[in-house]
Amino acid sequence: MAITGDISEVLFDADAIAAKVEYLSSHISHDYQGKELVLVSVLKGGLMFLADLARGIDMPLSMDFMAISSYGAATEQTGVVQVIKDLSAPILGKDVLVVEDIIDTGLTLNYLLSTLRARQPLSVSVCTLMDKSVRRIVDMPLKYKGFDVPDLFLVGYGLDYQQKYRNLPFVGVLKEGVFGR
Ligand code: IMP
Ligand code: MG
Repeated sequence: MAITGDISEVLFDADAIAAKVEYLSSHISHDYQGKELVLVSVLKGGLMFLADLARGIDMPLSMDFMAISSYGAATEQTGVVQVIKDLSAPILGKDVLVVEDIIDTGLTLNYLLSTLRARQPLSVSVCTLMDKSVRRIVDMPLKYKGFDVPDLFLVGYGLDYQQKYRNLPFVGVLKEGVFGR
């Protein structure tokens, strides 16, 4: 069954995403020259963005992954999450760039940043493709930001609804009728 029919509006098509990713990766290449850059992605939403961003960065780097699981209601207020998969290598003395698909309340990222900082990297910064800033509860500096987005439920290019739609090559709004289907 085709999935593009479940989308009511395309916010960012593949070309718009590619242009933004190129812009971000060229800035990152410039800013991190000569440093030991580690791109850290939070599975699974950040995967597409990481893959495209990394290919645009013109310097040696490493990539690592974390996977987290929320505790449900507690997460909504505190952002405390369970680490399901941890980084595969130490980040002591490295320059870490966390690559995120979208920042909403900021609770999850805030918690992750504190666990990463405790491992004494040289620096920890954030690169997010999308920023749903109207929903922010915990403020944090975003060194690189792609798009500001409105308070709508978005899918595609890594973002899911019930684990589906991540493979759409664009970011769009899910049709009302799809929820709870
Ligand atoms: P928060 O910033 O801790 O509230 O959570 C951010 C995470 O929630 C993102 O990494 C996504 O996995 C998910 N998320 C936030 N907004 C959306 C959306 O519009 N569609 C799909 N997932 C979203
Ligand atoms: Mg995410």
